[in-house]
Amino acid sequence: MPDLSVTYMGLRLENPFIASSCGLTGTVDGVQKCAEAGAGAVVLKSLFEEQIAHEVSQTEDSIDVDFHPEALEYVSQMGRQHGPREYLSLIESAKSAVSIPIIASVNCVTPKWWSTYARQIALSGADGIELNISVMPRSFSERSDSVEKEFLRVVEKVRAKTDLPIAVKIGPYFTSLPRVAVELRKAGVSALVLFNRFYQFDIDIEARSIVAGYQFSTSNEIHHSLRWISILAGNVGCDLAASTGVHTGEDAVKQLLAGANAVGLCSTLYKNGIGRIGAIRSEVSDWMDAHGYDSIDRFRGTLSQSASDKPEQHERLQYIKALTGLS
Ligand SMILES: Cc1cc2nc3c(=O)[nH]c(=O)nc-3n(C[C@H](O)[C@H](O)[C@H](O)COP(=O)(O)O)c2cc1C
Repeated sequence: MPDLSVTYMGLRLENPFIASSCGLTGTVDGVQKCAEAGAGAVVLKSLFEEQIAHEVSQTEDSIDVDFHPEALEYVSQMGRQHGPREYLSLIESAKSAVSIPIIASVNCVTPKWWSTYARQIALSGADGIELNISVMPRSFSERSDSVEKEFLRVVEKVRAKTDLPIAVKIGPYFTSLPRVAVELRKAGVSALVLFNRFYQFDIDIEARSIVAGYQFSTSNEIHHSLRWISILAGNVGCDLAASTGVHTGEDAVKQLLAGANAVGLCSTLYKNGIGRIGAIRSEVSDWMDAHGYDSIDRFRGTLSQSASDKPEQHERLQYIKALTGLS
């Protein structure tokens, strides 16, 4: 049996397969099922910044965020259902129920609420924090560098409040991702999670209304993450976790060859059951046996751009070949 262990965010994982933040990781029972299925770590379902804001508003009797009244009602309900106090107790219970690392997750937009919660998350026993920073630029005059600075301000604020390793989960839309990645690392992140898959937007043409699009990814969506993992691996100075479109052992091997330190699984667990973690682990292990690798370190990153003697393959040449039919 090959050695599947990896280091991610400074944590030693028995294997690189992480149950990504989602509804399946929002209860102790779900976390236990992921651990039993063989996950290397679990990222808990995110606590939303708005839930923190709601609880703070209850104690301070004021809410310092400009919510639309309906949004406030929605957020209030969310806060009542699963507020920060429940979240801290979820971290504690998950930690005592399983032996694998537990990474807390916060979906945040501003640096505002961090003073209190980063420290409390650490005290609850989490092994790390994943920040899902969901800044949605809506202004027609805001410049991209000011949006990027918001990401850095969130990280700096959290970094100042806790020594826990921090991962930042970002979306795929940046004009200059390599620079943003380096800036985030300088601000103190231990890992980048590439990429978040945003809530899908769709329109029902019969009802003529806005509806939620299909929630789950397919293996065909792996390519954007794969490209950026391969470009950033070894060049940013922090770990990389692949997220989006990993459904099979083959998908996971690709991400490891590209240079991922860890691989997040979500849609495939909804579609095929949490037991899929163990199946993917076996598929990767079989592939390693077949190719003579006794540890992940032996092949991880061998197809990253920095390890390549043909770095142009990762860039424009492939695009030109595809469009001109040159071989
Ligand atoms: C039902 C559902 C709930 C999710 N909830 C969260 C969440 O609370 N926080 C988060 O950071 N990502 C959340 N995600 C995103 C996943 O963690 C993951 O990044 C994304 O689905 C892409 O991975 P996949 O292709 O393996 O599904 C959610 C995804 C799904 C499908």
